[in-house]
Amino acid sequence: MAESTRIIVLVGLMGSGKSRVGFELAKLLKLPFVDSDKEIEKAAGMKISEIFETLGEDAFRQGELRVIERLLSGGSKVLASGGGAFIQPGVRAAIKGKAVSVWLKAGLDTLVERTGRTNHRPLLQGTDPAQKLKELMDARYPIYAEADITLVTDDQAPREMARRIARELEQLEQKENP
Ligand code: S3P
Repeated sequence: MAESTRIIVLVGLMGSGKSRVGFELAKLLKLPFVDSDKEIEKAAGMKISEIFETLGEDAFRQGELRVIERLLSGGSKVLASGGGAFIQPGVRAAIKGKAVSVWLKAGLDTLVERTGRTNHRPLLQGTDPAQKLKELMDARYPIYAEADITLVTDDQAPREMARRIARELEQLEQKENP
């Protein structure tokens, strides 16, 4: 990461709170907040669900890689990434090269409860959301674990999570530049 640029990327499953916590973290660190799904929607002129429906998941993943590469080559920011982004090797390598990654690690009950509040997530449509989320946890948690910082999150308010991340970032930065 270039010294003058500070990019923090939140990773984790759907419902882990990446967007809400990212928004609070950006406020706390006085950095712009960007949500990769929103940027993909802007670039495509379509909702994520429409991209999955009309172009398919592979096309979505290609768009996701392009958009995240663009965001990582820009200025300082807090970036909330889509749940599958860090799982793509190309995205993961780009994040590792340019940013500090933070995994918001949530339990299944939390994820089921939070994702159940909306129905815009294509991977949870037409399936048992709890079972699908469990499968995704099994497949993805070993990969999210490669993030620079891991924080367990279940009941904490987004602002409290943001404060915890800020403390972890400080410790990491002190370790890197003692
Ligand atoms: C996905 C997560 C979603 C979105 C897309 C695919 C995934 O983002 O990118 O529906 O593969 O886990 P959120 O994690 O913000 O819901």
